[in-house]
Parts: sequence; C-alpha cells; structure tokens
Amino acid sequence: MNIILLGPPGAGKGTQGKILSERYSIPQISTGDILRANVKNKTALGVKAREFMDRGALVSDGIVVGMVEDRIRMVDCKAGFILDGFPRNLAQADVLGKTLAEAGKGIDHVIGMEVDKKTLIKRLSGRRVCRKCAANYHIVYSQPLNQGICDKCGAEIYQRDDDTEETIGARLDVYEQETKPLVKYYTDKGLYRPIDGMGAVDQITKTIADAIEKGKHNT
Ligand code: AP5
Ligand code: MG
Repeated sequence: MNIILLGPPGAGKGTQGKILSERYSIPQISTGDILRANVKNKTALGVKAREFMDRGALVSDGIVVGMVEDRIRMVDCKAGFILDGFPRNLAQADVLGKTLAEAGKGIDHVIGMEVDKKTLIKRLSGRRVCRKCAANYHIVYSQPLNQGICDKCGAEIYQRDDDTEETIGARLDVYEQETKPLVKYYTDKGLYRPIDGMGAVDQITKTIADAIEKGKHNT
C-alpha cells in the first residue's frame, strides 16, 4: 500500500506517519527528516538544502525527487511506503506518478490532513524534536518524561531552526501557493481522502485508518 500524507506544516504528518508505519509495517519516508539529516552531517546536499529550509522555501525539485526515487527503490518499500512531505508541488507529483507507473505501481491513498491555521501555529511554535531519532514532542501537548531528553533513544531534544515565528509564516504561505494545488490534482484522480486533523492523536489515527478502508472500497 502506497500512501501520501498531505497537509500543511504542523498538520501532524510526521506524528501520524510514524504510527501508521508501525501499524501497516511499511516505512515512513519523510523528505524533511532526510534533508535535516543531510544538513546535520554537512553533506553537499545538506549544504545546498539548508539555505532553502532556513527561510521556509522548498528545496529544488532536482535534489528532492532524486532522493525520493532512490529511497522508494529500496527493498523495504516493496510492500509499500508512507510519503510524508512529498510531493510538495505539481512537478514533484507528476514525476512521482511516472516513476511509479514505470515500475507497475501507483499511489493508493492521499490522506489530506485538514487543520486550522491557529492550531498549526500553536503546534509548530511548541514543537520539539529528537536530534537522533526525529521523534516529535510538544511543550504542552506531548512532553517527554525527562525534560530535554528523548523518551525513545535518550538523545537531546531541540527546536527546529525553521520553527520560528517568521519562518512558520513563510512555510504556511509556501504550502498555500505550491502544495495546496495537489488537493485538486489528487481529487481528480480519485485518490484524495480528506480527514479532520484536529483532536487527539489516536482519534486522528483511527480517522485515517477508516479513510483508508473506505477508500479501498471506492477505487
Ligand atoms: P518538513 O520537515 O516536511 O516540514 P513541514 O511540511 O513544514 O511539516 P512539519 O514537519 O513542520 O509538520 P508535520 O505535519 O510533520 O507535523 P508534526 O507531526 O511534526 O519540511 C521542512 C523543509 O524541508 C521544508 O520547508 C522544505 O524546505 C524542505 N522540504 C521537505 N520536503 C520537501 C519537498 N518535497 N520538496 C522541497 N522541499 C522540501 O506535528 C507538529 C507538532 O504538533 C509536534 O510537536 C506534534 O507533537 C504536535 N502534534 C501533532 N499532532 C497533534 C495532535 N493531534 N494534537 C496535538 N499536538 C499534535
Ligand atoms: Mg514533519
């Protein structure tokens, strides 16, 4: 099963992607996490990507598309994958569609996570992330057991460089202009499953699982 999690910054793509990855035993592929790992390790790709990420702009399609293509060819993606943060514009969606079609595959479900702007800003400004395993925390909604330490791997928890007020605003604008057109793109293909992304994390997981089940019967 090949799933895309589509939604604005802070919609919960990373949070739900990790849960769904365990539930369906397929990998979560977060382009943001892969790019941040490259930035951390100061790879050539990371150095190029950083200047875009720090101002909330999209990294060039050439970099990101190649990265995703390499990842979905890996053996652990044979039974499926969950894309978190990709595609991010129409050009990326077109390339993804063609690459999968060439391999005799396709996207099964595009989960559209709908969350209001006020909630997105609250979630992003309070988010904290593990430097090592990228587990998500929040200073109000989801605190670690020991302050500043990841429950899962014991590494340090930090605030992402792009979770500042100014960059959050830029990222939300980029979503509206470049990513939101994908809602129509995938609706026209009969793959878009909108879900209410507000409320408790486990309730949202259930809503997504229900949408996947329902989508299976409608396609
Ligand atoms: P990326 O890392 O993908 O960031 P994003 O899309 O801005 O999304 P976020 O990770 O901020 O939000 P999320 O939806 O994952 O929410 P989360 O689950 O963490 O991309 C970063 C940058 O990389 C981009 O700006 C761009 O530069 C570049 N990039 C990445 N992909 C690219 C691509 N394809 N093309 C070009 N450039 C690309 O949740 C947020 C917070 O809310 C957390 O604290 C969490 O604990 C909390 N939370 C989640 N759900 C709930 C809930 N139900 N109730 C309460 N709190 C909740
Ligand atoms: Mg994320």
